[in-house]
Amino acid sequence: MSVKRVMFVCLGNICRSPLAHAIFQKMVDDRNLSDLYIVQSTGTCAYHAGEQSDSRMKATAADRGVDINHRARQIFRYDLDEFDYIFAMDKNNYKDIRSLTTNEDLLKHVYMFRQFDPVECGDVPDPYYGGQKGFDTVFDIADRTCRNILDLLEEDQI
Ligand code: 4NP
Repeated sequence: MSVKRVMFVCLGNICRSPLAHAIFQKMVDDRNLSDLYIVQSTGTCAYHAGEQSDSRMKATAADRGVDINHRARQIFRYDLDEFDYIFAMDKNNYKDIRSLTTNEDLLKHVYMFRQFDPVECGDVPDPYYGGQKGFDTVFDIADRTCRNILDLLEEDQI
């Protein structure tokens, strides 16, 4: 079995994508699939590069049993070569990721994250400027969507 390389991408890489990264990694570990997945997250901008994830996002995840331990970094062109599945948290992230290359084969690996949300498609709402409810909502979306993505990857449906 070959290793699947999965990357989640948002704007700052301090809220949404490190959450999806941590949730997905935990699901992989819990299913004893750790040798079969490389999981990473990045942001389309460098504003927060090198920083720990947002403390509100970390606290929300910790309350639900998920440990986020990540330093933000920006996505680069070479990530499109390195990762097999790249999931954008919103339409702007999707557009910005796709602007890194014109290679059609690489562009086929870029997806909207919530394309795989079993409840509703669209953007993962940015919680950065809002209150606690936004962080809880993002957790719920990321949890069910990561579960579905892992199920589909394991069934070779993505
Ligand atoms: P993220 O959230 O893209 O989910 O990490 C944001 C983090 C920082 C900013 C915006 C969104 N910011 O404007 O600094």
